[in-house]
Amino acid sequence: MSYDPFARYYDADFRDYHDDLPLYRELARRTDGPLLELMCGTGRVLLPLAAEGHTLTGVDISPAMLGIAQARLDKAGLAAQVSLLEGDVRSLSLPANHFALAFVAVNSFMHLETVRDQLACLSNVRRALTRRGLLVLDLFSPDPRDLLHEDNRLILDREYALDGNHVQKFVAIDSDLASQLSRVTYIYDETSPTGQLTRRTMHFNLRWLYRFELEHLLARAGFSLRNLYGSYDLDEYTTGSPRLIAVAGVSR
Ligand SMILES: C[S@@+](CC[C@H](N)C(=O)[O-])C[C@H]1O[C@@H](n2cnc3c(N)ncnc32)[C@H](O)[C@@H]1O
Repeated sequence: MSYDPFARYYDADFRDYHDDLPLYRELARRTDGPLLELMCGTGRVLLPLAAEGHTLTGVDISPAMLGIAQARLDKAGLAAQVSLLEGDVRSLSLPANHFALAFVAVNSFMHLETVRDQLACLSNVRRALTRRGLLVLDLFSPDPRDLLHEDNRLILDREYALDGNHVQKFVAIDSDLASQLSRVTYIYDETSPTGQLTRRTMHFNLRWLYRFELEHLLARAGFSLRNLYGSYDLDEYTTGSPRLIAVAGVSR
């Protein structure tokens, strides 16, 4: 699945999502060195961190998502601080021993559906981090009580204006507890002022992880879990926590 045909919708949908920014701002302030964002999309997190003076590299597989990120960086006068790399996080070659902090924001790591893909990504990141470097993975917190109710019912998620057109976004999610997969469908209906409707449908899978699975996965990839949080306010991870956020260091 490619994000390319949906890049402008993604940007419109999530550009104003800021809940996770204080976490990255604080971690970035405490680090001394360049930052790496994997699966950076249209630059939602890159821009505010660059505006605070940090130097960053953003990696994404989608040229269209990176194109929007680059345009936003140029417009904000921040392009000199941010390098955008087009590539697959599973096979990417990054400078070794270079970054002080790496992160994968809101659920993006869940696009990696197999343990093999997850480990390929994590070992690339580990090589790219300095010995004291930190990795942050911000994941959806799976609650079987909610997942059981996800049965592919289509709901109207949001409506907004985009480039003079009206967009309706519909979402359907079908989750399977055994395979730990959510099959997600986004339907974007875009209507022009003359009433012409264009429908674009996007299907993708998100593979969720449980806390101890995550801890083991990180250990296999040469990381040790430093902290596990259940929210952007850094609450303890408990039943019903909205997020599953791991902060890991490179194992010696
Ligand atoms: C939901 S978007 C999230 C963007 C960003 N993390 C944020 O929080 O705004 C997921 C991004 O992951 C990228 N992506 C998916 N699989 C990838 C892969 N294997 N390597 C690099 N990027 C990937 C997609 O192109 C997309 O831009």
